[in-house]
Amino acid sequence: MLICNVVGARPNFMKMSPVIDAVKKKGFGQFLVHTGQHYDDNMSKVFFKELGLPKPDVHLGVGSDTHARQVGRIMIAFEDACLKKKPDLVVVGGDVNSTLGAALVAAKLHIPLAHVEAGLRSFDRTMPEEINRIVADQLSTLLFTTEKSGNENLEREGVAKERIHFVGNCMVDTLLRYLDKATGLCPWKKYGVEPGGYAVLTLHRPINVDSPKALKLILDIINKVSHDLPVIFSVHPRTKQHLMEQKIETSRSVQICEPLPYYEFIGLMAKARCILTDSGGIQEEATVVKVPCLTLRENTERPVTVSSGTNRVVGTDSKVICEAIDAILAGKWQAGRRPPLWDGKSGLRIADAIEAWAAHR
Ligand code: UD1
Repeated sequence: MLICNVVGARPNFMKMSPVIDAVKKKGFGQFLVHTGQHYDDNMSKVFFKELGLPKPDVHLGVGSDTHARQVGRIMIAFEDACLKKKPDLVVVGGDVNSTLGAALVAAKLHIPLAHVEAGLRSFDRTMPEEINRIVADQLSTLLFTTEKSGNENLEREGVAKERIHFVGNCMVDTLLRYLDKATGLCPWKKYGVEPGGYAVLTLHRPINVDSPKALKLILDIINKVSHDLPVIFSVHPRTKQHLMEQKIETSRSVQICEPLPYYEFIGLMAKARCILTDSGGIQEEATVVKVPCLTLRENTERPVTVSSGTNRVVGTDSKVICEAIDAILAGKWQAGRRPPLWDGKSGLRIADAIEAWAAHR
């Protein structure tokens, strides 16, 4: 049994790391393919170091481009890798273009596919990730879900029940593993702020940052928020490019920094007063560290973070966001509970399910 694990973009590293560890313990053969979708040291290499990921056995080096060109390059290079190495199972995670490209190749070569973080749906097909999720799920033999809404979505879309495994959240495995270490490093000191005395901001969704009008609107709101609460803004390269092009100004209480390494980022998140984000994974991480989270989008594909956790979907309306910040500062926010099976053992459940599948295939 030879398993091919695929990573490509930043969030893949935290999701796939527990799977790689758990599969290794089972004694299956495996190899790691990095598509190269993310390539800057602070978007990729630093996570390999901090998470102790093995060096990729195959690096496809695809880099950035339009969606079709990027996915096309991933497919061409990944097909070569599969033909050479002949894996028995391809494992992809999340919803990035690398997930889509690798899933299509596996399906076309008749290699069974497993999808980690299956079934999430924002029901918004203008999001590239929604397309990637739908396709990867339809092509998968093994579908590993993080929350019950994932099972419901998949069953409604006609996926056979026996293919769906509710295993919990691998990103949470990684978070729980490194959280104490991260907070022990006191990353807030570097920014001259105290635990509970700052907000953390991330922004990278095309809908929020690619249009100058949308980006300016959000940063006007953030400037307002920063009067009450200093903001640490970890800037994604996509966002940085637009900030520089549009010459958008931020207030002095907004500290702009490069994409942060994992320990520093989760340490900052865990002790923040609140988190403002348009990321998917950060909504989940905020729920686990029990920090109020404002999602700067119109929807979420992770509804359990709202129903059980600390998340509220607030869009980009200034009044709604400022009222939410007031509520947080007044201590009026839901405390949140950790959702079922977000317990640090999801990677092990995935390895068990792969083992059971391998025994009967
Ligand atoms: C991608 C994912 C998104 C995920 C995000 C996490 C897709 C469609 N989108 O978005 O779901 O939430 O990663 O970060 O897969 N760039 C660099 N250095 C890098 C990588 C990218 O400078 O190492 C710049 C390039 O200008 C590139 C742009 O960022 O054009 C966007 O990169 P891309 O991978 O296409 O999408 P993300 O916005 O990172």
